[in-house]
Amino acid sequence: MCWAIAFAVTVDTASALNEAASGKVLAEKWCSSCHLVSQDQTHASAKAPPFGSIAKRPDEELNRLSFFLLDPHPLMPNFNLTRNEITDLVAYIRSLKQ
Ligand code: HEC
Repeated sequence: MCWAIAFAVTVDTASALNEAASGKVLAEKWCSSCHLVSQDQTHASAKAPPFGSIAKRPDEELNRLSFFLLDPHPLMPNFNLTRNEITDLVAYIRSLKQ
């Protein structure tokens, strides 16, 4: 049943890539006024941590990001992010880890 496993892994990787791609669009639209969300961006608020440095945190902390994003953080407007949007944003932040 090797093909089934290979198929599952391929689908999984592809959907993680899709999530990260739409997370990037969301981040550029909603988060980049305060956060450095990608390497091409040069200006952001000094108070907000760059997404690239958030990505370097330990895995269990990254897992908690989804819960963190369910509520607006101080100084951040209430976006009312949907669960899908949160999944995409967290996938994007994870993808920045080098
Ligand atoms: C109006 C400015 C502003 C916007 C817009 C904003 N943030 Fe933030 N964010 C901050 C500031 C300031 C901090 C650091 C202080 C804090 O943790 O509250 C922060 C912290 C964070 C953290 C780190 C929390 C931690 O554990 O240290 C994450 C993750 C985060 N923001 C994600 C996002 C995402 C995703 C978006 C877009 C949907 C976003 N932020 C939009 C200002 C903003």
